[in-house]
Amino acid sequence: MRRTGIRVLAAVILAAGQGRRMKSDIPKVLHPVCGRPMIHYVLEAVEGTGPSLIVVVVGFGGEMVARAVEGRAQVVYQEEQLGTAHALLQAAPLLAGFDGHILVTCGDTPLLASGTLRRLVEAHLAGGASATLLTAYLEDPTGYGRVVRDEAGRVRKVVEQKDASPAELAIKEVNTGVYCFAAAGLFETLAALGRENAQGEYYLTDVVENYVSRGLAVYAVVAEDPREVEGVNDRVQLARAEGLLRRRILEELMLSGVTVLDPATTFVDREARVGRDTVIYPFTFIEGRTVIGARCTIGPGARLVNARVGDGVVIQQAVVEDSELGDGCTVGPYAYVRPGCVLAPGVKVGSFVELKKAVVGRGSKIPHLSYVGDASVGEGVNIGAGTITCNFDGERKWPTEIGDGAFIGSNTNLVAPVKIGAGAYIGAGSTITRDVPPGALGVARGRQKNIANWQARKKKKPDTGGEG
Ligand code: UD1
Ligand code: CA
Repeated sequence: MRRTGIRVLAAVILAAGQGRRMKSDIPKVLHPVCGRPMIHYVLEAVEGTGPSLIVVVVGFGGEMVARAVEGRAQVVYQEEQLGTAHALLQAAPLLAGFDGHILVTCGDTPLLASGTLRRLVEAHLAGGASATLLTAYLEDPTGYGRVVRDEAGRVRKVVEQKDASPAELAIKEVNTGVYCFAAAGLFETLAALGRENAQGEYYLTDVVENYVSRGLAVYAVVAEDPREVEGVNDRVQLARAEGLLRRRILEELMLSGVTVLDPATTFVDREARVGRDTVIYPFTFIEGRTVIGARCTIGPGARLVNARVGDGVVIQQAVVEDSELGDGCTVGPYAYVRPGCVLAPGVKVGSFVELKKAVVGRGSKIPHLSYVGDASVGEGVNIGAGTITCNFDGERKWPTEIGDGAFIGSNTNLVAPVKIGAGAYIGAGSTITRDVPPGALGVARGRQKNIANWQARKKKKPDTGGEG
């Protein structure tokens, strides 16, 4: 690690707790908010303060959390979750000899903005305190540690909800769980703390009273937007965080030139990108790492998961997953583009069409009621209504190839593996089991037979006496 003197900052994220109140087998910090694990938000906010090292303390589901932060932070294990002070102490070996300042945050505050952390760090460095807390005033402070100040307004201690007196419970200034500490002496203090409290845990918050009693300066910075510091401890708070963040994402999109007709029914994940003058209609979900170009019309009722969508694309009442759509494509209404599809510009995928691992060339049309899977379709191909690529023989999947400019008549079965040459025609209602050469007509269906006067002859038959 770089040691360039007092201004060096390190960061520790406490994320070892199970989050018992989540009632989950997944560690709390991995629960997604707007499509991204909570801890990624915290990491991003912390990264924005420019620390020379980030340490994440993991415990419950530690391997899973370690994987989620790989490459962005160092990981230390807290074998037993004995409290927040004990958690921070686990980072001591990685910070041995470090003489700068340590920013400490929890892994369960996904709304915390980087700017707020920077303000805390700057105030801490400017104030020269041994510890600076980030606090907030909450209308309903239930569950949080309360910040106790003296008559002069100086911070005296933090008392947890479960240990607080009725007078302390009335305090509305809460500890957000975010701190900046001078590294000097911190770990020695943590190691000396006791756990004589209601929860029998080593409280990081006890550092405050310890420092104050020793005459060390402890200051506080009040967060401007108290909603930012709300922790997620149960799934009701998870939904609240999701709601706030969703609104924030939509407002960013709108301010960047995207029309969102109904923010109440539009869901856009944090990692998704949407281009200028695109219009998003209601009941639309834009998930994962989806990227949408400019001037598109998305929805109503669209769900895009990790899709790459060009400019001027129209998608309505459709699901598109892990696929690419070129400029000017239209999809839907009622279409399902499954993973692995690549549509060149100007492709039309119409109603009741399902595609899977289909590569479709420029300007080709699959307008109605078709299944095209494991297929490569050339340019300017027309696929008639009811065409099915029969790609599965009960054991394995086989490919279908359709050349440029081919015309597939309605209600055709293409039994894979099979190749239709460029410019070939397939008669409607064919079941094609052999390759069709370029330019040829392939027909594979029973010949039509007309029986003259059939109805009149039928009527002359004697009545069989049935009841109708
Ligand atoms: C903590 C603070 C409280 C503050 C609140 C803000 C203490 C004693 N209390 O309470 O003053 O108002 O955060 O949200 O610090 N963790 C570990 N190892 C442990 C225990 C916890 O890594 O042994 C981690 C958790 O994963 C979590 C964070 O520390 O990310 C906070 O733990 P949590 O149990 O949520 O603390 P609170 O009760 O919310
Ligand atoms: Ca918490």
